[in-house]
Amino acid sequence: MIIIKTRKEISEKIIQLKKEGKTIGFVPTMGALHQGHLSLIEIAQKHTDVSVVSLFVNPTQFNNSKDLEKYPRTIETDIDKLQSVCTDILFLPNADEMYPEEDTRVFDFGKLDKVMEGKYRSGHFNGVAQIVSKLFESVLPDKAFFGLKDFQQYVIIKELVKKFMPDTDIEIVGCPIIREKGGLAMSSRNELLGAVERENANIISKVLEKSKEIVNEKSVEEIKKYVVAEINSNSFLKVEYFEIVDDVKLENIKNWSENNKKVGCVAVFCGEVRLIDNVYYN
Ligand code: PAF
Repeated sequence: MIIIKTRKEISEKIIQLKKEGKTIGFVPTMGALHQGHLSLIEIAQKHTDVSVVSLFVNPTQFNNSKDLEKYPRTIETDIDKLQSVCTDILFLPNADEMYPEEDTRVFDFGKLDKVMEGKYRSGHFNGVAQIVSKLFESVLPDKAFFGLKDFQQYVIIKELVKKFMPDTDIEIVGCPIIREKGGLAMSSRNELLGAVERENANIISKVLEKSKEIVNEKSVEEIKKYVVAEINSNSFLKVEYFEIVDDVKLENIKNWSENNKKVGCVAVFCGEVRLIDNVYYN
């Protein structure tokens, strides 16, 4: 694996690889790598010739400085994990490299970034768009791979490419959620959970799964109430939101008879740790 730290160097390397006819698969990360990230790299390797992973904890997407401070940083083990799955290139820039000056760009995603995560984490998706657009400009991938646990992020990144980077033709590939044995969606934030919290956090996916089983017996509103009440009945957990939305415009579903695909998205506090997960209802 080659480690590259500057934007200039990574662009030069990618241009050279593209001249050799290689396709580039890109997995952007903030480190604290887990099996979910490694599965994205494995999918990238199946679909493209060269796998590039970036590791950068992006300050502009944190609306809470404590959250940024607490974010797990495990660079040495991350490098070992990347090597274990034969990653070709690690792009490891620092903050001065990515933000030599303040990034004042504001991305208009219409309603997409006003709901769910966008509503509760003001400015989060603008920060994601700032860093992902810069990474895309440097790495020039043919395909970029994102985990569907961050479902709203996946929808917004697709819009970022379509609306703000139309010349790049980057394909955004959504990849399945990888779960712990107990069902908890894998996330770097799981590192921050104690053993008892982790055990209780498994309830989130269990309730989402159960809600799928009873979907024919209940209205959309009843399912929403059911999910919130069941999760909140666990004393370790507190739901911030649970919405059932379509998978393109992220608008609230009113009836199961609507044609679009329906996704139930939840954010839950487990102690101080904020977890998200989702489930497709069709
Ligand atoms: O999903 C993440 O880890 C981050 O939001 C991303 C896409 C790497 C941008 O910093």
